[in-house]
Amino acid sequence: MSVEIRNSEDRPVIVGGGIAGLLVALHLAPEPVLLLSQARLGTGASSVWAQGGLAAAMGDDDDPALHLADTLAAGDGLCDRAMASRILHAAPGAIAALDRYGVRFDRGPEGKLRLGLEAAHSRRRIVHADGDGSGREIMRALVAAVRAIPSITVVEGTAARRLAVADNAIQGIWTDDPTGRLFFRASRIVLATGGIGGLFFDTTNPTGNIGQGLALAARADAILADLEFVQFHPTALDGSGSPMALISEAVRGEGAILVDETGQRFLAGIERAELAPRDVVARAVWNHLALGHRVFLDARARPGPDFARRFPGIAAACGKLGIDPVRNLIPIRPAQHYHMGGVAVDASGRSSVSGLWACGEVAATGLHGANRLASNSLTEAVVCARWVAEDLAGTPARPIRPAAAVECPAPDPTPVRASVSHALGVMRDEEGLSAAARSLLPLAERNGPASDPAAVGLMIAIAALRRRESRGAHHRPDYPHHEAVAIRSDITLHAALAAARDLTPAPVLESL
Ligand code: SIN
Repeated sequence: MSVEIRNSEDRPVIVGGGIAGLLVALHLAPEPVLLLSQARLGTGASSVWAQGGLAAAMGDDDDPALHLADTLAAGDGLCDRAMASRILHAAPGAIAALDRYGVRFDRGPEGKLRLGLEAAHSRRRIVHADGDGSGREIMRALVAAVRAIPSITVVEGTAARRLAVADNAIQGIWTDDPTGRLFFRASRIVLATGGIGGLFFDTTNPTGNIGQGLALAARADAILADLEFVQFHPTALDGSGSPMALISEAVRGEGAILVDETGQRFLAGIERAELAPRDVVARAVWNHLALGHRVFLDARARPGPDFARRFPGIAAACGKLGIDPVRNLIPIRPAQHYHMGGVAVDASGRSSVSGLWACGEVAATGLHGANRLASNSLTEAVVCARWVAEDLAGTPARPIRPAAAVECPAPDPTPVRASVSHALGVMRDEEGLSAAARSLLPLAERNGPASDPAAVGLMIAIAALRRRESRGAHHRPDYPHHEAVAIRSDITLHAALAAARDLTPAPVLESL
């Protein structure tokens, strides 16, 4: 296969055109960088779809210490306290930085930021833009800023396939575009590739988000952390197709309640009810559905008549199904929404592979622990993008070795979705996780289109099997207890493959 070689001058390469990737590129300017994006900038990344905004302690009644306390409580003992504190203290500065890039945040009559409430926050601290269109507005401003900077070379329509690594150091990246295989020489690469929703049938993410950054890092032997922690959003719009439309937690923050087909408010007995941490609400909805009920969001009284003005995108999604939130109940069910686990990184975003950084959802900084507090992820992406850029700018390029070309077909997650959705949902158990690992192993070991998605699903399944407790978003009815000490779970692809090979074969059912 002929491979076109690019980037002979070894500019840093950023993989991913969402908020994290764009900001790393902007912060590096005027240093020349390459920004690789599979889709045209402003499309394809889950950032564009974000309804919730950025959590930051900006209110007169608020303080980063309170934001930290809420984050640690939601994270259920697994957050890295020092890292969380550092990120959340930097959060107000991140809002100011986006403001300077021209993001038009929602403001009250006197020009003060409007602060929204979302689940498990003890204060109003969510900064939104364009009502429920925060991600779209932030992306609009950042894409414009990137396009205006000549030192940032944007390469669109190119899909990352493999990292080249020698002696645990990055040498470049292979990608595919419509003309064929490309190799970008690079001794410094930042992964900002987003999440894993496309591995599940029910997700609120773009279906192209199939954990490709995790696969790239894992095949480069990077350490990944806390992969078992997958967040399900309790209120995806039932019947809205695939991916599912999200009904933002901000709607519950404005007073909407959850009811079943009998009108019963089944969360009433739970502390904070609809505004309990996301894992708690998702589990309650999941259990109620499993009992045969239907579940609805009731926004008729609150936010009531103000709904369409406050949440225009959600009103439009409901309207497509003939639902008027002011008059009708909104049918909902949980859907995969965010991945707390990711490439293990240090405070500067460095992975265990020299020359490889990760930023945004693909990274595990330790902020989210076992359950991400709503709207902390955009904040994390904005804050950490600066630190990644600063660290990368202070890291000189090093000589690159020639790399042998690799075979790897375009990934197709279709064969893995059933196993992943069934075994790695809101509830997990030994039998389901083992079955998933066994079925994913041969796909992960083969060099076929399903290999990378299967490798990611397999690593999550093995991490979930190993965590024999229930914590945050990882709930195991077969291990319902909570260990006294929370331990981060590190994993590599080699270790996951070995663990899956060691699983006892599935029992053969004897015919009667
Ligand atoms: C939402 O608006 O409910 C989602 C916000 C988030 O996931 O942080």
